[in-house]
Amino acid sequence: MEVEEAGTTRAWVLHPDLKDSRPAAFALDEAVALAEALPGLEVCGATIVPLPKARAGTLFGTGKLAELRQIFKAEEIELVLIDGPVTPVQQRNLEKEWKVKILDRTGLILEIFSDRAATREGVLQVELAALSYQRTRLVRAWTHLERQRGGLGFVGGPGETQIEADRRAIDEAITRIRRQLDKTVKTRELHRAARAKVPYPVVALVGYTNAGKSTLFNRLTGAEVMAKDMLFATLDPTMRSVTLPDGFDIILSDTVGFISNLPTQLVAAFRATLEEVLSADLILHVRDISHPETENQSKDVMTILTDLGISEETPLLEVWNKIDLLPTDQAEALRNTADRDPSLFVASALTGEGIDPLLDVISGRLEEAKTSETLTLAFKDGKRRAWLFAQEVVTSERQTETGFDLDVTWTATQKARFAKL
Ligand code: GTP
Repeated sequence: MEVEEAGTTRAWVLHPDLKDSRPAAFALDEAVALAEALPGLEVCGATIVPLPKARAGTLFGTGKLAELRQIFKAEEIELVLIDGPVTPVQQRNLEKEWKVKILDRTGLILEIFSDRAATREGVLQVELAALSYQRTRLVRAWTHLERQRGGLGFVGGPGETQIEADRRAIDEAITRIRRQLDKTVKTRELHRAARAKVPYPVVALVGYTNAGKSTLFNRLTGAEVMAKDMLFATLDPTMRSVTLPDGFDIILSDTVGFISNLPTQLVAAFRATLEEVLSADLILHVRDISHPETENQSKDVMTILTDLGISEETPLLEVWNKIDLLPTDQAEALRNTADRDPSLFVASALTGEGIDPLLDVISGRLEEAKTSETLTLAFKDGKRRAWLFAQEVVTSERQTETGFDLDVTWTATQKARFAKL
């Protein structure tokens, strides 16, 4: 008899192949990796199901349904993850047909996010996204829920159906969470204001999930942030200060991993965790250069960055990570390409290749991105003048009849921060 770990749920992953741009095999691998990121799940198998045309009622055709039912029965599957959108009606029918619980891609990513959320804001954002998701399913699951609950409506007022009561309860919960989020965002703004006073430029690590951001972050900071072979190990931005070889300090910020086809509810909810990226002085785009889908992953990341409204002036450095996983000749070819382009950089967060030079390149890029100008401040501008000195951007200063002329050399972000003082 097979011995099973206590509390594990036997799961199966299905990738409906709609023949869109993503190769199905990679999409399936990614879906399995996502499922494995959930504790308590044992992924017993995974299948690509060609799906030229989705059926409104059951998603899959009759033959496929029966074939899969047999597999699930034989394998004692309790949970089936469908890597794609499943309507509430399809979900209900499939659960009845296969006698399993169904989770779709949005549901799965929500589960992972909720498991990983580390800060108060992260937890609240996941709750908010989950509620918005439930709300859309409630509306569409109208008949289903009414029948299931008998539409007694004793929770709501006279004549109110259960569905309306459910929806109202969700709306109330959403309002409550929004209010709590407002508060945490204010706290964060305070933190950011406090940080703005620190004379450190911010360097943000971004990248596709599992690209190696946390591992690189640990390499660069010597810090012990969670780095596991798990997708989304990082949900909330982590900030840490690092002293570069030239003695300058920076703040390094790790961010949540990006993923293609991120459900829209989640994109909105996680925008805030990427706010740090918007105000970064330098962006490090960490890529798993050994991954067969590295080009598409990179495009997805760049699209999200553009959608977020990243300024074109923010310098960006591509770090081609996991070079150690490539055969020698391929790795050499990539090193040669990177040598010719100052915005490309080859590294291995695992072996440490390229880490020290990377720190030098970071200093260089931050230096390059600086501009110089002369500011005129009145005597009463003492606070702003003190800020400039604290940021270490003043190269020389002359007193005038009304105040000071200051020569400053600063990054675009420092300049923007100064304008907001
Ligand atoms: P998310 O939190 O999902 O966004 O992932 P991440 O980008 O922070 O990735 P993480 O640092 O957690 O690394 C993912 C996996 O890749 C881990 O198993 C790491 O050990 C491994 N890894 C990271 N960098 C390298 C590398 O340079 N070479 C090799 N071989 N493995 C690496």
